[in-house]
Order: sequence, then C-alpha cells, then structure tokens
Amino acid sequence: MDPAEFWATGDYAVVGDLWAQPGRDLAASLSVEGRDVVDLATGTGVTAIAAAAHGARSVVGVDVTPELLREATRRADEAGVHITWLTADFLSVPLPNGCADLVTSTFGIVFAADPDTALAEARRLTRPGGQIVFTSWSAAGLFGKIRQALASFFPEAPAPWHETADDIRAVAGRDAQVTEESFVMTVESPEQFVSQLEQHSAPVVLGAASLGPVWPQARERLLDTVRAVGDHTGDGFQLPVGYLRTTLTTTTDEPHPTTG
Ligand SMILES: C[S@@+](CC[C@H](N)C(=O)[O-])C[C@H]1O[C@@H](n2cnc3c(N)ncnc32)[C@H](O)[C@@H]1O
Repeated sequence: MDPAEFWATGDYAVVGDLWAQPGRDLAASLSVEGRDVVDLATGTGVTAIAAAAHGARSVVGVDVTPELLREATRRADEAGVHITWLTADFLSVPLPNGCADLVTSTFGIVFAADPDTALAEARRLTRPGGQIVFTSWSAAGLFGKIRQALASFFPEAPAPWHETADDIRAVAGRDAQVTEESFVMTVESPEQFVSQLEQHSAPVVLGAASLGPVWPQARERLLDTVRAVGDHTGDGFQLPVGYLRTTLTTTTDEPHPTTG
C-alpha cells in the first residue's frame, strides 16, 4: 500500500490532535521568527501552523496525503496564517537545495522505510548552518510500549530505528543531539482511547484488519498497556507520553547533492 493510501485510512485529524502538543512545543522552543521553515510529513499541519504563528518568515508544509493537506489548509485559514502546502513524498521534495533554515518533522520522516534517503533529502533542503529537528516515539514511552506489547502479533514489521538515542545516531550520525521529552495526553478512559485508535489511527485500523480474528487478543494487550501507563484523575485518564527530539545542525561546508 502506498503511503498516501495508508495515511488516508481512518481519520488522522482525530487522533493526531491527541498528540499535537510536541509539534506546538517544538515550534515554540526553536526561535522560528524570521526563519524559512519546511515541515515534512506535516499531516494536518500542527507544527507548520505553530511555526507560522510564531513568526516564521515562510512555511512550507509537505505531505503525501491530499486528504490531510485539505484539513491542514482549513486549519491554517482558521488560524489566519499563510502556509504553502505541497503534496509530495518526503523522499523527493520538489523544492530547491538549501531553501530552509529549519526543516521539521513531528512523528513524520521517522516512518520512512528508507531513513537514509529521508534524512539526505532533509539535509538537501537545509541551508548551511541550518537545523533539522524531528520527533519520534521512544521505546520507554507509551507508544514504544504499545509497539513492544503488540510486536509478537506483527513478526514481519521492521525494527524501528527511531526509538532510542543510540539507534537514531546509528542512522543520523554521531553528532545528532537527542533529547528525551514528554507531554501528558488526557483521554476519557483507556477503553475510549483504544476505540479511537481502532477507528481512526491508520496503523491500528490496518493492523487490526490484517490480524482478523486474532485482533481481540491483541486489542486486550493494547488496552492493558494503556491502563498500566496512565492514571484516572478528576479530568479523565492521563497518559504521560515520552518521545525523543533529534536535532541535526548542517555544517557550513556540508556539500549539497545536485538533485532538487
Ligand atoms: C503520524 S503522522 C504525523 C503528522 C504530523 N506531523 C503531526 O505531528 O501530527 C505521519 C504523516 O506522515 C505522512 N507521510 C507518511 N509517509 C510519507 C511520505 N513518504 N512522504 C510524505 N509524507 C508522508 C502521512 O501522510 C502523515 O501525515
């Protein structure tokens, strides 16, 4: 299945809003003011819109899924910010070399089947002295735990390269700065959260479909993991969610490939 068809499954806007905080935090913490930003795998535009709202000089949001870019466009209009949306694969982005001071990707390029090409493309887009900043779910955080709990049901799934600092550095280079971050996700209850994933999160919808009659067993394990990580409070069920933020700084003498 191609990535656009994959990510158009379910309704990413519903679940993506549950974990929008990292994108907003990233834009708020990076001094984006006056910088040219390219947000890869922008989805509904959470990070791109936050970057524009924080005064970026220009923002381009790139995604392969037209349905998600339509929602991103609606949200940017609602927020009153200008963003250029580009339907494209992050492995081959139709933008010139060195067009960005900052290339961001929240839980985006880490889904690349070919991370070397995705990172090379991000580097190509970044000006000398600029930065690439991306986030990924960590092994120790909620989504890493969910993946591990369900791993035996999906023996063919490739091992993730983005769940630990060592694995990220093995792909992105020893100079990659990797920091542990977290936010609190509030949902109604573990059951309601798992139902939302089951209805709207593409990896879960498609994973459940592939398991067929075995899914209820996997679902029980998913539910147990969610229950074990979170706590009931007066405001609902609170889940601390750990993730990693990786920063790569392009050096002034880094050569750009000639493509693009
Ligand atoms: C988990 S979502 C993250 C979206 C957004 N960055 C966020 O923080 O909510 C993953 C996104 O990656 C996009 N995507 C996956 N493969 C892609 C590819 N090869 N090229 C461009 N976008 C891709 C999907 O369409 C989806 O919007």
